[in-house]
Amino acid sequence: MSDPVVIPVPPEWAARAYVDDVKYKAMHASALADPEAFWGVQGQRLDWIKPYTKVKDTSFNEADFHIRWYEDGALNVSANCIDRHLETRGDSVAIIWEGDDPNNSSQITYRELHAEVCRFANVLKKRGVGKGDRVTIYMPMIPEAAYAMLACTRIGAIHSVVFGGFSPESLANRIKDCDSKTVITADEGVRGGKIIPLKANVDAALEHASGVTSVIVVTRTGAGVSMQDGRDVVYEDEAATVSAECAPEPMSAEDPLFILYTSGSTGKPKGVLHTTGGYLVYAAMTHQYIFDYKDGEIFWCTADVGWVTGHTYIVYGPLANGATTLMFEGVPNYPTVSRFWEVIDKHKVNTFYTAPTAIRALMRDGEEPVKRTSRASLRLIGTVGEPINPEAWLWYYRTVGDSRCPVVDTWWQTETGASLIGNLPGATAMKPGSATRPFFGIKPALVDDKGEFLDGAASGNLVLLDSWPGQMRTVYGDHKRFFETYFRTYPGMYFTGDGCRRDEDGYYWITGRVDDVLNVSGHRIGTAEIESALVADTKVAEAAVVGYPHDIKGQGIYCYVTLKAGVTPSDDLKRELIQTVRREIGPTASPDIIQWAPGLPKTRSGKIMRRILRKIAENDVSNLGDTSTLADPSVVDDLVANRAGA
Ligand code: WT7
Repeated sequence: MSDPVVIPVPPEWAARAYVDDVKYKAMHASALADPEAFWGVQGQRLDWIKPYTKVKDTSFNEADFHIRWYEDGALNVSANCIDRHLETRGDSVAIIWEGDDPNNSSQITYRELHAEVCRFANVLKKRGVGKGDRVTIYMPMIPEAAYAMLACTRIGAIHSVVFGGFSPESLANRIKDCDSKTVITADEGVRGGKIIPLKANVDAALEHASGVTSVIVVTRTGAGVSMQDGRDVVYEDEAATVSAECAPEPMSAEDPLFILYTSGSTGKPKGVLHTTGGYLVYAAMTHQYIFDYKDGEIFWCTADVGWVTGHTYIVYGPLANGATTLMFEGVPNYPTVSRFWEVIDKHKVNTFYTAPTAIRALMRDGEEPVKRTSRASLRLIGTVGEPINPEAWLWYYRTVGDSRCPVVDTWWQTETGASLIGNLPGATAMKPGSATRPFFGIKPALVDDKGEFLDGAASGNLVLLDSWPGQMRTVYGDHKRFFETYFRTYPGMYFTGDGCRRDEDGYYWITGRVDDVLNVSGHRIGTAEIESALVADTKVAEAAVVGYPHDIKGQGIYCYVTLKAGVTPSDDLKRELIQTVRREIGPTASPDIIQWAPGLPKTRSGKIMRRILRKIAENDVSNLGDTSTLADPSVVDDLVANRAGA
């Protein structure tokens, strides 16, 4: 392997940043040496209704397993994201909204945000929602999505945002899992010029989730949608009847803030639960340091609020810091492939944060669509969601950032709340493709499959040895699953599910998931979920799903499908199965390749040998390893011979 490129920190970046390398090392060391003191100071960045006296109380050991931060403090998230800014920046813009149509944008000041969120909170109250109730939010990327989230936090309700690209079936499962009685949606969504029938999807979902008694429908397009009497209300009608003042509910630091469902290697998606105090401290702090956020800057994270990236870096981190956050309804290639860069120029964006898959897709169109825009306002660009290949990193740095903006690569997970490994722009020499070094107080380590520590330059499984304030606290309704999923494999440690290499400089290079979780276009999807969607089709006997390298998506979805006896394989049937998966889960889980498999490679005890299936999907068939333990080794020959694309 050739030596990786190293891009040192120019003195001017170090000078303008909060933290240079000397300060990074000092702060990191002090956080590790005395977490209580370090995080005690960091907690002061928020306004507390009741100050905390305890800071950290955590143990990853089974005997006394618990994670609590700032536990005796009380605060309100919406007050921290809105009210406390009113005096100093009430008339500053909190949210810039850029519509799907480039002629459609708006600005919401902090004062306006306050009124909107209070009104939304009062509508929720009027509909009977109270502290601790779960509210499902299934919305397009419009300001009301943020209002709805913040309104929940204002009254102490727990939101569960479900990405608008998920199917009615997935939505129903998420509603049922957390037993939410209230759903907030819009009549329709608009993305890339296409209409998404959100309310109709909710109606379909509620046929399988009968516990919902209240649906609040925000008007986006004004299309007539069916409304069920007594259950459904038009948001604007309700909002007109309530006050624009609503006192924030004091919440304990460890009260639940939100649930966000994410896929694991087994079973149905887990409801990752984050709590109030620690999450907001950590979201605000990472937003400040990693993006080197300075007062008055305009921050754009291109994620959807349906993912954790949108929660932390569109809504909670930026607003807690009084920033101007940009919310974009559209897609990178509509109406043209210059859209991102045009939006940056239009709104004078200073920080731009996106995913490698978007960068790779835009790279295909060459430099011209980028270079025809100025991007003079840009100061820093960031990436998240999957390992970024050095080619894409360098294109991003040179073409988008004109080699003058630091690229921050941020490694994190839904479970971690905010970024844990990533370069600080004034402190860390960049190596394209490496997430680089841990954030203050984060203790990553590498272990082998037996859990033995690997020192120095090494490759292994990425674990975290101690807690941080933004860590998830439980799997909603299944605390046992929380422990079993993350703390059972390597006792006393949090297991990330990622493989990782550490180089001689102590830099971390995430190599991807080591479990049966795929990362498709930066979206996490469990192979087990796709398999169960496939076998839901009556023609399918069995299915096994693996990932394979995909130029744009990072990983593509490769499905081996065994049909029931008597069913004739055909291209029509492949299309039907793809539709089945889209219907059961959503378009993000759409199979890229289906291969008919007369049999699957199984051990004598019936376990599918995915290692072999992965190698066939990757077209790495010269060395399939030991197949002698298979019940029927000949199935492998058939799969190799009929490999899709072979
Ligand atoms: C998984 C978490 C964090 C918000 C978006 C995804 C992968 C995430 C990086 C990165 C390499 C990354 C990991 C992780 N991942 N960021 N910068 N470099 N890999 O959240 O859906 O919970 O997925 O995404 O594999 O475990 P998520």
